Amino acid sequence: MAEIKRIVILTGAGISAESGIDTFRSAGGLWEQHRVEDVATPEGFARNPDLVLGFYDARREALASVEPNDAHRALARLEREFAGDLLLVTQNVDDLHERGGSRRVLHMHGELKSALCAACEMRSAWDAPMSDRPQCPICQAPSLRPDVVWFGEMPYQMERIYAALSQADLFVSIGTSGAVYPAAGFVQEVQRTGADTLELNLDASDGTPFFREARHGPAGSLVPQWVDEVLARA
Ligand code: APR
Repeated sequence: MAEIKRIVILTGAGISAESGIDTFRSAGGLWEQHRVEDVATPEGFARNPDLVLGFYDARREALASVEPNDAHRALARLEREFAGDLLLVTQNVDDLHERGGSRRVLHMHGELKSALCAACEMRSAWDAPMSDRPQCPICQAPSLRPDVVWFGEMPYQMERIYAALSQADLFVSIGTSGAVYPAAGFVQEVQRTGADTLELNLDASDGTPFFREARHGPAGSLVPQWVDEVLARA
């Protein structure tokens, strides 16, 4: 088995499910509770900013009542103990990777605990409601919006992600349905280089056919197991 020196990990809502955060597309998930068009598009925000700010205020507030789980902690351990290069890319906007101990997390879809100013376009750390139209900490305009990448908007740091994918020996996808691009296309990018690919997910996803290996079950047990294997081999 070839030595693994460079790993890229992609996580999705499934890694936070065991912490009590709803996923998007499961039965009773967020996209059954809310219309995507209303709360996750720039057009929806323009149409009804109160609805959108309220939606993200509630999700931000709910972070205080959840904790990271064993999967988050296992990835933090991998970051600490793996001698090679590791890039952890998450589609999640929660802060559970960081609270689980990960220091280098790339939030490609933004973060609940960050604000984006529609006036000066600057991002600032933010952990309070936005529904009362607070001022931007940088330009003081009352124009803050959730720093979350909505449908139709470009995710963050795509060049850095594609550069890492092109160099990776191993790509691992954890807790994502493979329904949303560009993240859903990462496995095919890696397939082209011939690098190894592994899916860790509760059940089969839209992306499963593209992975060399797929293990299905809860992330809280699959991820610590996999991290043990990698560190035992390193
Ligand atoms: N362990 C592992 N996987 C799980 C678990 C668990 N405990 N619970 C659920 N899953 C899996 C589901 O089987 C599903 O395949 O996690 C996946 C979650 O899929 P989605 O709800 O579609 O979430 P995600 O893939 O992260 O969505 C991608 O879509 O709505 C947008 O911007 C949003 O970042 C999000 C993107």
